Amino acid sequence: MADFEDIVVEHAADHVLQITLNRPKARNALRTNLLREIAETLDAAASDDALRAVVLTGGEKVFAAGADIGELAALDLKGVVEDARPGYWQRIAEFPKPIIAAVNGYALGGGCELAMHADIIIAADDAQFGQPEINLGILPGAGGTQRLIRAVGKPLAMKMVLAGEWIDARTALTSGLVAELTPREATIERAQALAATIAAKPPMAVRQAKDVLLKAFDTGLGAGLRLERQAFTILAATEDRQEGLSAFMEKRKPEFKGR
Ligand code: CAA
Repeated sequence: MADFEDIVVEHAADHVLQITLNRPKARNALRTNLLREIAETLDAAASDDALRAVVLTGGEKVFAAGADIGELAALDLKGVVEDARPGYWQRIAEFPKPIIAAVNGYALGGGCELAMHADIIIAADDAQFGQPEINLGILPGAGGTQRLIRAVGKPLAMKMVLAGEWIDARTALTSGLVAELTPREATIERAQALAATIAAKPPMAVRQAKDVLLKAFDTGLGAGLRLERQAFTILAATEDRQEGLSAFMEKRKPEFKGR
């Protein structure tokens, strides 16, 4: 496994890669290098058939306190226009396999946005989510305005982005931002277990499902249903579909091969 400065990358379970943000002294602030390291790790994982799901965490104490404010402060208009970070965010968003975020502590600004790049968020019951960028004279710059409103709805998204107020884990759960709460000491373990469960499913079906589910944010119902039918048809050509259906009828456990 390659050595990184700002993240730790390891295998967490069969077919599961874990990325842990590793800038504890800066509360895992997402400096450009950290985003680059995540993007490069995911690019490599995308083309590695042995990897089927990713756990993304900031560790036990904090998920991430947002963009690195020191870096932001150093950017003038030209710097913002030519910033490399949007390109890294795009690569993270385009990762085709499932990402499970395990959020302990704060997920603020870009930290909340990074969590929303995951497909499922598992959070500690004392985690906190916020988009405090307004306090810095800016606004969420990594998809926060668009993903948050889709996740939690207009009133809460407006409150978080316009007033900069944070929400607690329970609110994040009931509003739909988070899938599940756990005690803090169990968050990463639960995310790993969920990732392992998904990694044991037929990978082509998982990939198609993630793709079509996310398209729901970009398309109307009719177009989305056509995409679903297309994906359903594509899977008819896979060995794993045959295996899944046969195993059910033969009352045995399926052995999926990713073909
Ligand atoms: N960028 C850079 N450094 C940060 C940081 C950030 N986002 N957040 C924390 N740090 C640094 C602090 O400067 C401090 O460094 P020093 O020890 O060298 O002074 C260290 O991390 C510890 O911070 P605190 O002493 O403040 O720790 P705390 O536990 O008391 O508070 C916190 C933690 C509530 C997260 C607080 O640090 C905080 O409010 N941070 C800023 C949160 C924020 O505004 N995020 C939005 C950033 S903008 C953005 O994300 C844009 C975008 O959409 C992409």
